Amino acid sequence: MRTRFPALPPSAIALLLQIAAFALVLLSVRLFELQPEPLTFALACGLLAASFSQLAGQARWWFVIQLLFAPALVLMLNADIPPSVFLAAFLIMLAVYWSTFRTQVPLYLSSNKVWRALEGLLPLQQPDSHFRFIDLGSGLGGVLTHLARLRPDGHYCGVESAPLPLLMSWLRTKPYPNCEVHWASIWDEKLAACNLAQYDVVFAYLSPVPMERLWHKARAEMRPGAVFISSTFTIPGLEPDQHIAVDDLHQSTLLVWRM
Ligand SMILES: C[S@@+](CC[C@H](N)C(=O)[O-])C[C@H]1O[C@@H](n2cnc3c(N)ncnc32)[C@H](O)[C@@H]1O
Repeated sequence: MRTRFPALPPSAIALLLQIAAFALVLLSVRLFELQPEPLTFALACGLLAASFSQLAGQARWWFVIQLLFAPALVLMLNADIPPSVFLAAFLIMLAVYWSTFRTQVPLYLSSNKVWRALEGLLPLQQPDSHFRFIDLGSGLGGVLTHLARLRPDGHYCGVESAPLPLLMSWLRTKPYPNCEVHWASIWDEKLAACNLAQYDVVFAYLSPVPMERLWHKARAEMRPGAVFISSTFTIPGLEPDQHIAVDDLHQSTLLVWRM
């Protein structure tokens, strides 16, 4: 189902619906002169917000988030946890997920089996010949370091927007002189590394949200003969040249387009 508020990110819609639910429950409590327990009040807010989410056409998982948000707040406040714990948890989440609320691409990692399947999509090894590979949204750098170790004839580049994954991938790729990672958005036109014209293989494991825009970028920038690989997420309305099913926990598929 498509959301009825496409201009806003889902998290902003969810917050607005929580506020609307809270206002309605508060109004009813005042109107009918009720005196509910805080948890009952929160449950009513949760139920209403979850129903609003359904009506607004939000993705299924928002129903559960909306339902549990206010009751979880009340339970947490009752648990008497020091505020510093919440601040620390918030800062860690911020460093890991950064702008996920806007990009709608969270951190989750490719499996070792995907890394191995990617080996078979690299250009053939030839004497005195090098190729260039980029991982768009390179997470913890697992794809880059695995391939750099196995195929030292390649140059590997990662672009990552979230600071903590970037730091981890920077430490991880340090021993590999043929690896580099950049703290940037993949859409950054000022960063030379983001120009896809220089790569033989472009890899992305993102989410359904940016795929159409990414395909326009790939078509505009990539050279003929270069390979564009998306793990799991397809480009709407565009059949890939090759599907590679990977027998991992998520039943990943590599979708391959040759330019
Ligand atoms: C699903 S993870 C994939 C990680 C890694 N490529 C892998 O296969 O294991 C997607 C990553 O892309 C990053 N990301 C999302 N949007 C981005 C953007 N616009 N620019 C740079 N990185 C982005 C996220 O922070 C996340 O680390």
